[in-house]
Amino acid sequence: MFPLPLIFLASYTLVNAGSANKGDNCTQADNRLQAGTYQFFDDCNSVTYCAANGTCLLKGCRKDAFPFGYQQGADVPPLCPSGQFCPDEMDACQALLPVGSACQLNRDDECAPPPNAADLADTTSRGLNVNGAVCLNNVCMWANATLNNDCTVENTPYTAYGATGEFIDIVSRGNCVVGLYCDAATKKCLQEKEFGAACTADKECSSWNCLASGTCGVDTSLPKHVGTWVYVVVAIGIFGGIFGTLCGLFLLHRRQRDQEREKRMQYWREQNAFHQNLLQMRQTARASILSLPNNGSARSTMYGRDGMSPDEAPILQHAAPKGSGLRHYLGDDSSEYDDGVMMEPTQSVRRDEGRF
Ligand SMILES: *[C@@H]1O[C@H](CO)[C@@H](O)[C@H](O)[C@H]1NC(C)=O
Ligand SMILES: *[C@@H]1O[C@H](CO)[C@@H](O)[C@H](O)[C@H]1NC(C)=O
Ligand SMILES: *[C@@H]1O[C@H](CO)[C@@H](O)[C@H](O)[C@H]1NC(C)=O
Repeated sequence: MFPLPLIFLASYTLVNAGSANKGDNCTQADNRLQAGTYQFFDDCNSVTYCAANGTCLLKGCRKDAFPFGYQQGADVPPLCPSGQFCPDEMDACQALLPVGSACQLNRDDECAPPPNAADLADTTSRGLNVNGAVCLNNVCMWANATLNNDCTVENTPYTAYGATGEFIDIVSRGNCVVGLYCDAATKKCLQEKEFGAACTADKECSSWNCLASGTCGVDTSLPKHVGTWVYVVVAIGIFGGIFGTLCGLFLLHRRQRDQEREKRMQYWREQNAFHQNLLQMRQTARASILSLPNNGSARSTMYGRDGMSPDEAPILQHAAPKGSGLRHYLGDDSSEYDDGVMMEPTQSVRRDEGRF
């Protein structure tokens, strides 16, 4: 993220300011506005200006709160106090210029405001004037021309870059009061047009937006408002998505749970049947042993140990070697069992081995 702006700034410095350092030679004849951008250029670098004696000296004032070309935390020259301005050269603060004085391009702030500055000042953010004063064609004047009266117009063609390449963007400024525009053809102040009216330039529309179709559009700086139904649809989308996912997972897992339960039931039934078989076998065996003549001694050696019940004791003796056989029995019987998913029956077999 960080290198890109740095590269941009570096190339910007090369293009828009000279490279001469403090104390180097320079010539004020090179001072100019760059073609296309109208940015001020001199031979000196971004922290110095070209003094009258042909030497680059450190700048004496700054135009912007955050001046271009200084290192982070570097000492920056001061902003000018009220009643003064810092010219494009940024050599030193000067007193505001009275009406009729020479001023620099787009530097309305160099001109002294009119007495009725509060009435004439542009409170929109369009840069129509500064405190009611405006610099047109390098002359200070006040933005006090009224409806259908003569006005001064200044057209500046900037080079702009769009998706389709380079194009010329003409910025037209005048000295009409706020709410009027200076018509370039008749040089008269005309009322700004409302939404939908025919237009040929942005300045004719009160929205400052003349569409390609030739009518005034909506103000592009206004925030976009969407209808309540959009919020409703978005909310339904969000909560519908959440609950849809939850319900879907619940149904999916319920089916899996039912399958698991069925498998366990099946396993339990098998085990129960097996257990019943064993019981039956044992009873048959006991009956046959009891029917032998010397039943007393046989009983004490086979069933009498550790005080266990007759039902459990024989299983304990043979459980370990039979364990794997039990698992195989389960695996063979339930063909739909997946080894990865079906861990539980195997584990329960192991538990049962210990208990038997
Ligand atoms: C600067 O200008 C002076 C006088 O014109 C000249 O003697 C000197 O060599 C110049 N210095 C450079 C670095 O060009
Ligand atoms: C130009 O003026 C500055 C400040 O007045 C001074 O420091 C500098 O030495 C001068 N340079 C020449 C070449 O006269
Ligand atoms: C309008 O401004 C001009 C300077 O641009 C000034 O000479 C003139 O007196 C002003 N007119 C009014 C009515 O204030």
